[in-house]
Amino acid sequence: MNGPREPIGVIGAGYVGLVSAAGFADLGSEVFCVDIDEAKIELLRRGEVPIYEPGLAESIERNRGRIHFSTTLDQAIGAARLLFVCVGTPPTYAGDADLSAVNAVVEAMPASANHALVMKSTVPCGTGRSIQRIFAEQGKAALAYVSCPEFLKEGSALADFLGPDRVVVGADGDSWAADAVCALYEPLGAPLVRTDVASAEMIKLAANAFLATKISFINEIANVCEETGANVLEVARGVGLDERIGPKFLSAGIGYGGSCFTKDVSALKLLAANSGYHFQLLGSVIEVNELQKRRVVAKLARHLGSLAGTRIGLLGLAFKPNTDDMRGASSLVLAARLAAEGAHVRAYDPVATEEALKVMPELDCAEDVEGALEGADAVVLVTEWPELLALDWAAAAAAMAGKVVIDGRNALDPAAVRAAGLIYEGIGVG
Ligand code: UDX
Repeated sequence: MNGPREPIGVIGAGYVGLVSAAGFADLGSEVFCVDIDEAKIELLRRGEVPIYEPGLAESIERNRGRIHFSTTLDQAIGAARLLFVCVGTPPTYAGDADLSAVNAVVEAMPASANHALVMKSTVPCGTGRSIQRIFAEQGKAALAYVSCPEFLKEGSALADFLGPDRVVVGADGDSWAADAVCALYEPLGAPLVRTDVASAEMIKLAANAFLATKISFINEIANVCEETGANVLEVARGVGLDERIGPKFLSAGIGYGGSCFTKDVSALKLLAANSGYHFQLLGSVIEVNELQKRRVVAKLARHLGSLAGTRIGLLGLAFKPNTDDMRGASSLVLAARLAAEGAHVRAYDPVATEEALKVMPELDCAEDVEGALEGADAVVLVTEWPELLALDWAAAAAAMAGKVVIDGRNALDPAAVRAAGLIYEGIGVG
C-alpha cells in the first residue's frame, strides 16, 4: 500500500477481531489488538492462533511487526484514533444480545474528541444511540461513534474481509471518524453504504435474517420435493437463475448452524417484539430450521426401523467446513436426538472434535473417518469437508455393517455411493 495508513485499535481478539486485525494489517495499518483474556493474548504473542480459520495464522505471522497484542487499552488509545470494538454479543437466557462485554468497553473509553468507538460487534438496532447517550451522561460526548458491521463468513473470513460485497459505515451527522473508517476501506474498492447508525445496525441483522430465511425456504421446498418427486437441486438451479433471486444460499440440507444466524435471527425477532412488533416470518424461519435438523432421524428410522441399538456414524461435526466452530451446529441436535432414540453414535470431524467434546463431552468421537464407518448401520454426512466428499465408498461399504448413507448436505455423488452397493438418500433429491 502507498502512503502511511491510519493505525487502529481492535478490542476483542475473537473471530471478527483477529480477522479484522490481520486484514487491516495486510492493508498496511499498525494494529493494536486488545483482549482481557491473558492466556489468549499470551498465545497470540507467541505466534499461535486460538481459532481455526484458513490463512489467518499465516496473515498474523506475516504482519507480526504490525500487530501488537495487549490486555490493556492504554497502548491502543495512545497510538490509534479509531478503536474497533469486536467483542462477543452472545444470546442471553431471554434470547436478546448480551451487551455486557460491549458495555465494559464503553465504560473504558476515554473522554476524548480525538477518538472514536467503531462498533463491529453485532448489536441490536438502537445500541449506538444508547451508547452515545451514555457517553453524554459520562461527560464523553466528544467521543465519536461509528457503526461498521462485519459480514465475513467463517472458513473464508480473510478473503471476505479483503473482498467484501459492500462496506457499511453508519454515523449520525458529519463525522470525521466515519470519513476515516471509509478511507481505511477505500483500497478494497467495495461499494460503500454510508448511512446513519440505526440503519447500519439494522442492515447487519436484516442481511443475516434474509440469508437464514433463504435457507429455511429452500429446506421447506426440499421437504415438499420429497413428497412430490421433484428434485430440489434442479429446482434451486432453476429458481436461482432468476437474477432477482440469485443462486446463493439455496442449498437444502440439515439446517443452518453457526453463531451468527442462530443468534441474529432470534435477536431481530426479539428486538421487534420488544418494540411492539410481532415478526411472524422469522418465527417460522427458526422453527423450520429446528425441524430440519431432526428430519434426518425420521429418515434413518424409515430405513432401519427402531433406532434402539443401531450404530450411526456422523461424518463431520462443525457447523460448516473449514472451521472448528461448533456453535449452533446441527450435529449436536442430531447426536442428542439419535442418542435419545437409543442409537450409538460415533462421530468424526477432521478439525472440530476438540471443540465438539467441550460442548458434548459424552460424544463418542473417532480419530479417523474409518472409526466412524466401522460397523455402522448407517452414516450421515453432516459437514461437507473435502476429505469426506472424497471418501472411497467401496471401502466404506466394506467397513460398514449396514448400507444406509444419508447425505445431509446433498454434497456426495449419489452414483458413486450407489455403485458401492449402498443406499443413498439426500435432502429433497428424490
Ligand atoms: C454468516 C453470514 O454469511 C455472514 O455474512 C455473517 O457475517 C455471519 O454469519 P457464517 O455463519 O460464517 O456466516 O456461515 P455461512 O457460510 O453463512 O453458513 C451458515 C450456515 O448456513 C452453515 O451451517 C451452512 O452450512 C448453512 N447453509 C448455508 C445452508 O444450509 N445452505 C446454504 O445454501 C448456505
